Order: sequence, then structure tokens, then C-alpha cells
Amino acid sequence: MNVKNNVINYDDDYSFVSWDDSFATGILLIDNQHKELVNITNELFNACLAGKDKAGSAFKEIMAHMVDYVKLHFTTEHELMERIQYPDYKNHKVQHDGLIKHILGAADEFSKGNKFIPNFFVRTLKEWILSHVAVYDKDYALFVQDQKKKGLLTDAQLEG
Ligand SMILES: [Fe+2]
Ligand SMILES: [Fe+2]
Repeated sequence: MNVKNNVINYDDDYSFVSWDDSFATGILLIDNQHKELVNITNELFNACLAGKDKAGSAFKEIMAHMVDYVKLHFTTEHELMERIQYPDYKNHKVQHDGLIKHILGAADEFSKGNKFIPNFFVRTLKEWILSHVAVYDKDYALFVQDQKKKGLLTDAQLEG
């Protein structure tokens, strides 16, 4: 996988995610959370690779963890964006709400035993996370850099 001009290309549809420094926002807390999201996504991939029965129980557990972690991460970003008065906050939040809805819907289908294809779901999730980080999160990261340069924002304000 590689990122060029904010377009993400995949060498393989079914591949693990590797962290790339081009995803970095330069905000330590956010970067650490993004790395953890990558880890959990890979755990979901791993669960898909396990045998069918094992995959089911492992997948369920990791999905629950993913839901919690995504919520935590989005709350962190919302608080940060409010604190720094990021102008595109509303639009960014709409993107987050869309993903939460998608994940909760998928988790629900999965628990009901409805038609649910874990491989497909994880692939979609991976694409969403990486493109969101590369485009939307990158945008507030640039805003932060700009505000810092102008002396309008300090590291202390970023930490909350
Ligand atoms: Fe993010
Ligand atoms: Fe975000």
C-alpha cells in the first residue's frame, strides 16, 4: 500500500495495514490512537484468517473492542477540534458519525447471524480509516501546524 497525493493505492485488497509516517498528524496522542486503530484492524484481519468457528468468537470480541476504541478516538478528536476552534469541525464529525453507524450496523448484523462477510467488512473499514486519516485528519493537522506557526496555539492547548 502507498499514499501519493492523498490517494491510497492498495497492492492487495486483502492485506494487513502497516503504519506509514505519512499518516502522522504530529500530535502525539492522536498518532498513538491511530496506530492502535491500525493494530485492531490487523487483529480483525487475523481473526478472519482463523478457522471458521474460532474466527466467529475472536471476531466478535475484537469488534466490541474496535467499537469502544473508535468511540474513544472520535471523542478525543472532537474535544481537540472544539478546543482549537477548528473551522471544519461539523463536517469532520459527520464523517465520524457515518463510520460509527456503519460499524454498529455491521456488529449488529454479525451478532444476529445475518449475512455478513467479515473479510469484506474489514477491508471496507481499513479503507475508511486510512483515507479518513490521510484526508480529514490531515486537514486539522495542517490547521494545527498553521496556528502554531502563527503563535495562536501552543502544545499545552493541544494536550487539553
Ligand atoms: Fe482520527
Ligand atoms: Fe477524524
